[in-house]
Amino acid sequence: MIKISPSILSGDLSDLSREIKRIEHADVDLVHLDIMDGHFVPNFTFGPMVVKTLRDKTDLVFDVHLMIEKPERFITQFIKAGADILTFHVEAVSELKPAIFLIKDQGKKAGVALRPATPLQSIESILGWVDLVLIMSVNPGIGGQRFMEDVIPKIKELRSRFSLDIEVDGGVKPDNIREVVRAGANILVAGSFVFEYKDLSIPIKILREKAEG
Ligand code: DX5
Ligand code: ZN
Repeated sequence: MIKISPSILSGDLSDLSREIKRIEHADVDLVHLDIMDGHFVPNFTFGPMVVKTLRDKTDLVFDVHLMIEKPERFITQFIKAGADILTFHVEAVSELKPAIFLIKDQGKKAGVALRPATPLQSIESILGWVDLVLIMSVNPGIGGQRFMEDVIPKIKELRSRFSLDIEVDGGVKPDNIREVVRAGANILVAGSFVFEYKDLSIPIKILREKAEG
């Protein structure tokens, strides 16, 4: 089953509660929340307090992508705020295992994210413990970038060896989503393409149809 996770980053950040309602009406299961700290990536978004205010507005699954240094400092706060899936970058922690179990021991799904240049070898030892691997197909920090084709072999290799959720994030559009799904991804993040539309159910339908071929 293919899941589309729209990234609210491309929405109107001054009116997130309206954006969450628009997403809710678009036939999706998840919403992708990009958390940036100005250190791990050269950009800022929002933190647990904002996530908590959104939690009161929707039952959508919160797919939280932590682009922050030392994410273990904030994982519990994001869980308390209502995160359902927490994905942190392997480049941002010194020890992967404690961060994974900090999430899992609180009953939430744990994911690890890789920048485009980070090889799969960096997560080999922990793949048995995570629920999800997020493969970045752009350098993290900004929406609306171009999909990097070179990550396709990484998706294929991961899919051929492990059965877990593979999420792909960055530059996903109707013209490449089929290739990404065929490589083995089952959760697709889409930001800029989705928010080009007034009625978000239209781009979601287009992406789903293209993804399913
Ligand atoms: C980039 C973010 C992505 C981004 C995706 O750092 O992690 O989630 O918002 O947006 P598009 O689809 O525009 O690349
Ligand atoms: Zn993201």
